[in-house]
Amino acid sequence: MPGRPHLFVPGPTNVPDRVLRAMHRAQEDHRSSAFPELTQGLLRDLQPVFGSTRGRPFIFASTGTGMWEAALTNTLAPGDRVLAVRFGQFSHLFIDTAERLGFKVDVIDLEWGEAVDPARIAEALAADGAHAIKAVLLVHNETATGVTNDVADVREAIDSVGHPALLLVDGVSSIGSLAFRFDDWGVDVAICGSQKGFMMPAGLGMLCVSPKAMALVEHGRFPRAYFDLRPQVVHNDQGYFPYTPPLAHLFGLREALDMVAEQGMPAIVARHARLAEGVRRAVAAWELKLCARDPESRSNTVTAIVVPEGKDARQVIDHAYRRWDMALGSGLGRLNGKVFRIGHLGDLNAGMLLGALALTELALHDAGIAVPYGAGVAAAQRWYHESA
Ligand SMILES: Cc1ncc(COP(=O)(O)O)c(C=O)c1O
Repeated sequence: MPGRPHLFVPGPTNVPDRVLRAMHRAQEDHRSSAFPELTQGLLRDLQPVFGSTRGRPFIFASTGTGMWEAALTNTLAPGDRVLAVRFGQFSHLFIDTAERLGFKVDVIDLEWGEAVDPARIAEALAADGAHAIKAVLLVHNETATGVTNDVADVREAIDSVGHPALLLVDGVSSIGSLAFRFDDWGVDVAICGSQKGFMMPAGLGMLCVSPKAMALVEHGRFPRAYFDLRPQVVHNDQGYFPYTPPLAHLFGLREALDMVAEQGMPAIVARHARLAEGVRRAVAAWELKLCARDPESRSNTVTAIVVPEGKDARQVIDHAYRRWDMALGSGLGRLNGKVFRIGHLGDLNAGMLLGALALTELALHDAGIAVPYGAGVAAAQRWYHESA
């Protein structure tokens, strides 16, 4: 189809032309004496995106999934017990990774669409007087359901019972888009990837690791090879990597971090909140339900929309893709066919989202869900106008 396709999955997100151009250049020697400037600048400028001055950032050629493994294997010992909440497909997969690595996972299962209740975490940790639980695994923003958790409340819950467990937080669909305060929230390892808030293609996995967790990395007993943070430390300190780094991605990240610095994280967070509210108002005008139950926990990076009983969300997604050249996010795991998702994160503005909402209305019609033409668009327009 002529014209640009519309990408509204919650990652990969739209890559700005500036970032694409920065990636489209000749390769360089990653062992040259000039290279440390790039490496050290990236690691330095990642810190504020994590909301940290004391956490240590790492960059891998990987994705978010690899960073789950890196976070677990660098800070825990074989067979350790951990506590996790499952409330969507990504929290499920984080748990699955931990189990496949041989960790014993105490799972708090919630309805998919609910947010984590910190009191349940406090209760589980309070029952662990021997401190056998070594870490709490938390997905900050559950991309499958469009639910954002309050990490500060989870930290408070851990502290309220005086439990020393580490707090490992998946920020794959939040970091770079939503407020993330690594230091203030007492996060021990934050996990993210390049293809969402960082406005890049997939291919980089990134971590931020607290001093407390770094001390464990040093003496960790879990076998590690590629994801071992120890050789990273040695090489990064000199401005290099222990392997051939994906140069195009690093050049892209340089440009993306410059864009983040130009906009400033507070403005980026505010833009995501404003754009998300327009989507939610459109959904209300369509008289459709959000998967996220609690208004307080509705995500500003992704909205999961429940289709009416008897309708198939896959139809909405397929018509959007084939007839209207727009990619919407699918329902994952047990939500398959029940929800479709609109990703609203990264390099995005109101005009792009209004286009997406107009096309979503067409795809809803195609799937037999006859919302009034323009109802959602008008509701979002009103909001964008009054909040401009
Ligand atoms: C919250 C969350 N965690 C982890 C992942 C997995 O990341 P990746 O696909 O980069 O491996 C995703 C991917 O969408 C995600 O949304």
